[in-house]
Amino acid sequence: MKKILLLGSGELGKELTISLQRFGCHIIACDKYKNAPAMQVSQKCEVFDMLDSNKLKQVIAEHKPDLIVPEIEAIDTESLIQFEKNGIKVIPSSRAVSMTMNRDKIRNRAKELGIKTARFGYAESLDELIEMFHNINGKVAIKPVMSSSGKGQSYASTVSDVRKAWTIALTGMRGKKKKVIIEEFINFDYEVTLLTIIDSKGNFHFCPPIGHVQERGDYQYSWQPAKCEKIIVKQMKSIARKIVKDLDGKGLFGIEFFVKKGEIFFSELSPRPHDTGMVTMFTQNFSEFDLHARAILDFTIPKIEIYKKGVSQVILANKNAQGKFLIKGIENAFQDKTIDIRVFGKPETKPYRRMGVILASNIKNAKKALSKIKVVNI
Ligand SMILES: Nc1ncnc2c1ncn2[C@@H]1O[C@H](COP(=O)(O)OP(=O)(O)O)[C@@H](O)[C@H]1O
Ligand SMILES: [Mg+2]
Repeated sequence: MKKILLLGSGELGKELTISLQRFGCHIIACDKYKNAPAMQVSQKCEVFDMLDSNKLKQVIAEHKPDLIVPEIEAIDTESLIQFEKNGIKVIPSSRAVSMTMNRDKIRNRAKELGIKTARFGYAESLDELIEMFHNINGKVAIKPVMSSSGKGQSYASTVSDVRKAWTIALTGMRGKKKKVIIEEFINFDYEVTLLTIIDSKGNFHFCPPIGHVQERGDYQYSWQPAKCEKIIVKQMKSIARKIVKDLDGKGLFGIEFFVKKGEIFFSELSPRPHDTGMVTMFTQNFSEFDLHARAILDFTIPKIEIYKKGVSQVILANKNAQGKFLIKGIENAFQDKTIDIRVFGKPETKPYRRMGVILASNIKNAKKALSKIKVVNI
């Protein structure tokens, strides 16, 4: 029985825990708050800040896991590199985790590998940011290099927007280092996630592309399969192979691309299951969590098939949400017998916090079900 230390215990970690337990694994779920989703289904849990290297070392020394499986970016990756040297396997690899912890390393690496991205630059002060804005010359996206789920992200078309974007970035960033990435805004035709699996023998497997729509830099709904020309899928797979091979390791990766007039832009990559990939719980014979579990346990990857088309639609807390809550209307939503729902079980709401997901066969049914569900603070 493999002992697995899960670093990050959100909704993706919860589904991964369930998938791993089906293969007899023992999971220690970690996060910085109590009763996080994965902790509700794991054998053990630890509550601490995973950026705190001493605490991380202490937890690892106590549990002596076989595998460390990160579910989020905010981890002390330097310690992970040390642990890997001492024989504890980090998934997919400590290199992949440290390269993708912030936006800059992976973006620089993509450039070195000759992979096309939006034009970009970095700034560590407002003056530098304004200078970069003039260099890029046009609408831009500005994001803290340390952030996720759209936090601290905004768009700018004028110098006055850039000033606002700098403040937004500083408010939304993680960590102490003031550094932002400024990217040319790509007015893409569509964006997709390509779930890419590399198994322990180095073989690649792909899920059909997932389309998605984002608001405030956070995903609202996704669907699979995305309408994507064959030639585009072929090119995306070739980029995915190149970058995943370079990162090293085994497991499932979520790779984000923008597509504009037949041109592909690599956007970012998560070395783990992806939020837009929750749709695979409805559409595929094996979900992204089952596939990640199999890859990291060195099992054979089965043939991946889409059973039916599907959509995942997030259930969000409202703009001013705070604290304890009830989710109302699930029984009403289930009047549509074709949908399914996952409630994550987060202990509290926050503004726009993702509380659950609706799985449906098309966006119309998903939106109809969503209109019947309310997240109400109590
Ligand atoms: N350069 C860009 N041009 C156009 N849209 C962008 C750009 N950067 C980000 N976006 C939009 O914002 C979303 C979130 O940005 P992303 O870089 O993926 O951040 P996160 O790590 O928070 O998911 C993207 O999926 C896309 O819809
Ligand atoms: Mg993203």
